[in-house]
Amino acid sequence: STLQECLSLDDIETLATKQMSAKAWSYYFSASDDLLSKKLNNAVYQDILLRPRIFKDCTRCDTSTQILGHKTKIPLFVSPAAMARLAHPDGEHGIAQACASFGAVQIISNNASQTPEQICADAQPGQIFGWQLYVQQDRAKSEKLLARVNKIPSIKFICLTLDAPVPGKREHDIRGKKVGAKLPVTSSVAPDADAQGTVVDGAGGVGKALFAGTAPDLTWTTTLPWLRQHTSLPIILKGLQTHEDAALAAQHSPMIRGIILSNHGGRAMDTAPPSLHTLMEIRQFSPHVFQKLEIFLDGGIRRGTDVVKALCLGATAVGIGRAPLYGLAAGGKEGVAHLLDILVKEVETAMRLLGCESVDELGPQFVNTRRVERD
Ligand code: FNR
Repeated sequence: STLQECLSLDDIETLATKQMSAKAWSYYFSASDDLLSKKLNNAVYQDILLRPRIFKDCTRCDTSTQILGHKTKIPLFVSPAAMARLAHPDGEHGIAQACASFGAVQIISNNASQTPEQICADAQPGQIFGWQLYVQQDRAKSEKLLARVNKIPSIKFICLTLDAPVPGKREHDIRGKKVGAKLPVTSSVAPDADAQGTVVDGAGGVGKALFAGTAPDLTWTTTLPWLRQHTSLPIILKGLQTHEDAALAAQHSPMIRGIILSNHGGRAMDTAPPSLHTLMEIRQFSPHVFQKLEIFLDGGIRRGTDVVKALCLGATAVGIGRAPLYGLAAGGKEGVAHLLDILVKEVETAMRLLGCESVDELGPQFVNTRRVERD
């Protein structure tokens, strides 16, 4: 089928899979070990039921909301994902152009295949980006990058990823190693490189090559003060998988403004919980965190109903990781725009069928979570 015939995110993944190189597919599709967390990320949404209310006027439907105080037309953001040019030459800049037309926030990966300056070059008024940091063992490299990022006006926050001090064992990616030898990495591996970038050795898989310089020694007490010294942008933490860590993050408010509950799309700790479980844990054991931090999540979002369920349970917005890469592979920046269009329309339909005209109205009364509750 063609891009225009794709009706769902799954259709786009199918089309992308046909069009992508083996190298791109094995890197994007891969997750750790037995892919259990990756599969659970999708499955968990099927265990939550919606409770639509009837007899309500749904003429209007406004999907807009705020992320860290910035207006966005949709409660969705693009999660940081490395190496978009493996999918299509439009790369991260193409994703940015698609986001512009939807007023969607994009978090740029530390390991993007274009520089942050290139990706943000055509930012529209009001378009906002976050920049994701993997702290490098050689701190000077990260400091240099932060200095560049601080100067880009459309980058409004830093997202510090903490769930992957090392990459998980991603067997699809490792098997794809032969085709992974030459990678156009720009930002972390070679901060000063141009768009054509540096070649890194992908012999152990793309993931392993990208993680080569990543620092394994980050802590609450040492890393946050260091980061604060090098940026005054708001900071969010990504990769929280327990309510205990969410409560610790809340202790660092207001320096920490938000958290992204995530298991890295199943690519870090296999059998780590889907982010929706973590969200439920926070509701049960550390509900005060909602007062201190904006809570985001990602992993396994494929349908408008998935988005709506996460929002009903208290998420401010949800992220999509692989989907935009598949959109790119299926049709460049138009592919990403088509994908966002599908998802936004699904969100609107879900809100209308629930009887909600605005994101603010979404709440726990609209979901039945009995099948995912712990005893
Ligand atoms: C990622 N992810 C990721 N996260 C991050 O903080 N920095 C990064 O550079 C990357 N790179 C990356 C590459 C690829 C190919 C994938 C699939 C994922 C994780 C990403 O931000 C997000 O947490 C997950 O992708 C969300 O799950 P879904 O939407 O892919 O199911």
